Amino acid sequence: MKGLFVTFEGPDGAGKTSQLQLLATFIKQQGYDLVTTREPGGTKISDKIRSLLLDPNHQELKDQTEILLYAASRAQLVHELILPALEQGKIVLCDRFIDASVAYQAFGLQKSREMVELINKFASSDLTPNRTYLLNLSPEIGRIRLEQRRNKEFGNDLDRIEQKNIEYHQRVYNGFQQLAKEHLNRIRMVDANQSMEAISKVIQEDFLQLLSK
Ligand SMILES: Nc1ncnc2c1ncn2[C@@H]1O[C@H](COP(=O)(O)OP(=O)(O)OP(=O)(O)O)[C@@H](O)[C@H]1O
Ligand SMILES: [Mg+2]
Repeated sequence: MKGLFVTFEGPDGAGKTSQLQLLATFIKQQGYDLVTTREPGGTKISDKIRSLLLDPNHQELKDQTEILLYAASRAQLVHELILPALEQGKIVLCDRFIDASVAYQAFGLQKSREMVELINKFASSDLTPNRTYLLNLSPEIGRIRLEQRRNKEFGNDLDRIEQKNIEYHQRVYNGFQQLAKEHLNRIRMVDANQSMEAISKVIQEDFLQLLSK
């Protein structure tokens, strides 16, 4: 693979989208070819799956359906957009990836981690990020940030997953901690309690090192 695949993970409201945008601006300034995308979504078909998954009216959505829909959205994104971009030597930044399925669907929903990983291995043709930035923030503070964002952006109500209880979000958080412990070479845990600028600096420095390898 010629390109570089970088993902952003962490609990809801941790600052993934903000940090992805800051790194994207930095990379463009350096003159590199860049693709940014997000999950679930990122392609026409994946965005339709996203709306099925996040619609707060879909309370009857079963855990198994949720796991398969996330994987389906990812399969389309990987094969339609991410792999072709990497083949062309581009840098791809993605807001969430398979770690999120392990944290949210395996740990959060308490479903088989082995099964979630197997399904996603198939869905992604075993694509693994070169680097993952895990924005580490307690679910309680993440929730406060989401409430603040909602107040700023009128009509931005909490989605189906964000609405789940704090015990669920605590399990998700524990899932991310576990993943970070297991993938020390790939996952960089960043303290997301710092200012946006401070976090961005840490990520930029690490990214430059990654580029130089
Ligand atoms: N380091 C920070 N300190 C304080 N507030 C922040 C920080 N980073 C992001 N925020 C604010 O917190 C809110 C959530 O940030 P952002 O949307 O980037 O998080 P996210 O992880 O992408 O959330 P989601 O899980 O909903 O996609 C935004 O209003 C953003 O401006
Ligand atoms: Mg976001």
